[in-house]
Amino acid sequence: QRTYRIAVIPGDGIGKEIVPHAQAALEKATEGLAEFVYEDFDLGAERYLRDGSILPDEDLERIKQQDAILLGAVGDPRVKPGVLERGLLLKLRFTLDQYVNLRPSKLYKGVTSPLANPGSIDFVVVREGTEGLYVGAGGAIRRGTPQEVATEVSLNTAFGAERVIRYAFELAMKRRKHITLVHKKNVLTNAGDMWQRLVDAVGEEYPEVTHDYQHIDAATIFIVTDPGRFDVILTDNLFGDILTDEAGAVVGGVGYSASGNINASHEYPSMFEPIHGSAPDIAGQGIANPTAAILSSAMLLRHLGLDEAADRIERAVEADIAEQGSSRRNTEQVSADILARL
Ligand code: NAD
Ligand code: IPM
Ligand code: MN
Repeated sequence: QRTYRIAVIPGDGIGKEIVPHAQAALEKATEGLAEFVYEDFDLGAERYLRDGSILPDEDLERIKQQDAILLGAVGDPRVKPGVLERGLLLKLRFTLDQYVNLRPSKLYKGVTSPLANPGSIDFVVVREGTEGLYVGAGGAIRRGTPQEVATEVSLNTAFGAERVIRYAFELAMKRRKHITLVHKKNVLTNAGDMWQRLVDAVGEEYPEVTHDYQHIDAATIFIVTDPGRFDVILTDNLFGDILTDEAGAVVGGVGYSASGNINASHEYPSMFEPIHGSAPDIAGQGIANPTAAILSSAMLLRHLGLDEAADRIERAVEADIAEQGSSRRNTEQVSADILARL
């Protein structure tokens, strides 16, 4: 039996409320299959407000030594927006070179979709994770004056795009073999054109995979009018962020949406987290849905090659939703019901 080391970063708000349940599911699902050793990291708003640290180097170094990371959410109304999001979450994604942000959307039987006729929904968004408008290039001058200038530079490299494009084609080969590139190449003619050319070129190596293209604005329409058309959606960092909240909503809410920030070359640990945030509007009430976090632990297990354990979790969640539907249950109840099935 192999032992795996997991960094646990509950973070802020509901992150703290759901992560213990993801950990419990992981533990239960791997009984007799693998051994897990957890290292908890006190990172997020409380730590920042207490001693000013966001992601100290020594913590980062220790995180690098782990086999994978389980994260809840970061962001707190008491902290200026961006301090923790950039300084903690994005710093981890960038430093650990987690260039594939994998975000599956599946409509489980029993979930109430806000769509009248959702049909069958089962697609994965492959979002680039280390580039685009997220890099933090740009700046502000003359702040607070009428002449203030603020720029955010979108950085897109052929290297960065090609590696995530290749990942998407490999993934499509294991699925329904169709990729939709989503961008805004009618306006973002530099980056959009580069992405399209690279997709065309890599596509030549995968004759079985078909690929088409949609502008981001149109893609937001089809997510609600015809989500069944999508198999693999391939897109950049910001478009992928926005599209996956919408994708979460159509499959019943972000409380069901898991994600993986993957370092596909296995050079650094990958990080698994729900796509949603710290939800300050419901934090402390014990009503956050832990399903997204639990499904994130299944993605973690699959990434480590523990498919059997990942299947166990996914089957338990599927059965739980089939029986309970979108019924009102608190965090503890949902978790207990899923754990009982494990
Ligand atoms: P959010 O995802 O936290 O919340 C959006 C809405 O979804 C809220 O109404 C919330 O109550 C609901 N919701 C989210 N998760 C839920 C769950 N598990 N169960 C039930 N309802 C759930 O987004 P926001 O309000 O825009 O952001 C809040 C904070 O979280 C901000 O500080 C933001 O920067 C941060 N954030 C962090 C992450 C992350 O850590 N990956 C992701 C998104 C937002
Ligand atoms: C997400 C979040 C993050 C993102 C923020 C908090 C940096 O919205 O994980 O979707 O934009 O990627
Ligand atoms: Mn987001």
